[in-house]
Amino acid sequence: MLRRVLLVTLLAIVTEVPTPSQERFSFFAASSPEVVERMLKMARLRDDDVVVDLGSGNGLIPLTAARMNPRVRGLGIEIDPNLVAESNQRAKTEGLADRVHFEHRNAFDADLRDATVVTMWLFPELMRLLRPIILERAAPGTRVLTNSWDLGSWKPDEVDLNGTSIYMWIVPARVAGAWEWELSVAGKQFRYSSFVEQHFQTAEGVARTGDRREVLESMTLRGADITFGLKITLDGLGLTRHEFTGKVDNDHIVGTVKVTPPGQSEMTIPWRARRSERSDYFGRTGTAMFQKQPDQEP
Ligand SMILES: C[S@@+](CC[C@H](N)C(=O)[O-])C[C@H]1O[C@@H](n2cnc3c(N)ncnc32)[C@H](O)[C@@H]1O
Repeated sequence: MLRRVLLVTLLAIVTEVPTPSQERFSFFAASSPEVVERMLKMARLRDDDVVVDLGSGNGLIPLTAARMNPRVRGLGIEIDPNLVAESNQRAKTEGLADRVHFEHRNAFDADLRDATVVTMWLFPELMRLLRPIILERAAPGTRVLTNSWDLGSWKPDEVDLNGTSIYMWIVPARVAGAWEWELSVAGKQFRYSSFVEQHFQTAEGVARTGDRREVLESMTLRGADITFGLKITLDGLGLTRHEFTGKVDNDHIVGTVKVTPPGQSEMTIPWRARRSERSDYFGRTGTAMFQKQPDQEP
């Protein structure tokens, strides 16, 4: 008997737990028009923008964006069906329904493939839970703006603390992992193997060529744009300065590198890196790197 009571109680608990994707996380309050204007100004709207508001309430943000720029498109994702109906009616009344529409959907199920600007004003913990969704689904370079609260350890790229706080982030490309490339410098071929670690838009890494290993210097990552420096000894050339600039496109980085071997003038050469399954950076090296090179001080 006791076992049956326990089983029934357990079943009741299991069936009553709502699935997270159905849960309503924060209530409706409209942002003030002044705050919305500041958010959209910080986003620096462009003609090709698609503004997606996660938790769109009565539709204020996508509708304002569409009014500010006659080419911008807008999408609102809202869990309350009445607010979705009201927002779509507003879009129709204002003659914006061809560019702005609202979907009855949980923010966690939003399709962000076309988004170039994502806005949010939800409870802070909910916005933090949405970070991995945004980072996974939105393209690098997408601007993310919030009203009032930041996104914790994902540090903003821009803030406006005059009055209600407004924050903006640029979705970084995913660069963590192993990368390989070749360069032809002063008629010689060199193969580079690197390994990069990433925490949101902060990235750092190391590289190897031949038997030499060094740290990548001052790496910056803004959307898909990446830059870093490297000073490393190239066999037969000596300690060589490199300044890399490129654009990340999924499993490739395409750009240029300024290379300055000792005693030679700077040369700019094409750079094309590819992502690899594992990094030769960790491969075994001999002891050559500990032996004195002709151009090195003891
Ligand atoms: C504070 S209001 C912000 C409304 C609008 N973004 C604005 O700034 O004027 C938050 C909205 O998010 C909606 N919401 C809450 N949890 C949600 C979820 N999980 N998915 C989609 N919408 C949600 C609420 O119904 C509410 O309309």
